[in-house]
Amino acid sequence: MSARPGFSLDALEARWGRAGAVHFEERYGGPVAILTAHGARAVVALQGGQVLSYVPAGGLEVLWLSPQARLGTGKAVRGGIPICWPWFGLPPTQPDYPAHGLVRARDWLVAGSAAAEGQSRLVLNAEPTSADAGGWPRRALLQLEITLTDTLMLALSTENRGEEPFLLTEALHTYLAVGDIAAVRVEGLERRPFIDQLTKRWVGGEDAPVTIAGEVDRIYQETPDAVRVVDTTHARCLAVAKRGSQSTVLWNPWIDKSARLGDLGAEGYRHMVCVETANAGKDTVTLAPGARHRLVAEISVGPV
Ligand code: BG6
Repeated sequence: MSARPGFSLDALEARWGRAGAVHFEERYGGPVAILTAHGARAVVALQGGQVLSYVPAGGLEVLWLSPQARLGTGKAVRGGIPICWPWFGLPPTQPDYPAHGLVRARDWLVAGSAAAEGQSRLVLNAEPTSADAGGWPRRALLQLEITLTDTLMLALSTENRGEEPFLLTEALHTYLAVGDIAAVRVEGLERRPFIDQLTKRWVGGEDAPVTIAGEVDRIYQETPDAVRVVDTTHARCLAVAKRGSQSTVLWNPWIDKSARLGDLGAEGYRHMVCVETANAGKDTVTLAPGARHRLVAEISVGPV
């Protein structure tokens, strides 16, 4: 069995498979790990270290994924949890670098797996070098730990393995699935200042929870606490708790931008909202040589 050149599913299964907890197979045209724990399930693509699906025990899908999702095209898949690193958004220096960094479309290596009662875990590594990252002049080890229990937790660690300090921005670009965006409110961002990416202006903050009835693209600052997406259609609340992050990106492309992006499907914007656990905007991380930074997001589902 081979998922694509360079990957052997048999070898992955033999080395990292864990009975009843971690299993490898091919989906969307590429290798994925399936994590299971007490009836909960998560699907993780080795391309981009991208979680594509999270279904809690007895519950509905938590992550939105494009109907056109296909691995191995050289492009990032739209949906799930893409990893934006080592910059969020447009590149800080070279304009020919891709938006949202260097690791969304590359293959990550499995570096660990574990199973315990009610818990499964996968560890992925990526180590972009200047040769395979378009001349990016830094050295870093990136490690992503994905832990499935009755929540889904992602921990992204960056270690500076070079001789110079470097500045990092990043995001766990989480596409949350919602029943109908018109019946959603986002709590936890009240009174936080944000950069409105549509007008390029700073806004001082709003008193009420956010509702979405048009394109929204905001980088909220000073957001150490959990954000809650209250979805009355599905009668559930999706909470994104976090550590190592002082900013949160809220994004819905709405109709015109969806048409430009092309991979959301006609009605995709109605069924998703991105709540991105980030270090972005004024919230940057400077890593000294040898230093590490850990960005953690924990997604849980509860009643409204
Ligand atoms: C969001 C940004 O995080 O990602 C938006 O705030 C951007 O500005 C969106 O359009 C999607 O980016 P991409 O590169 O996946 O199309």
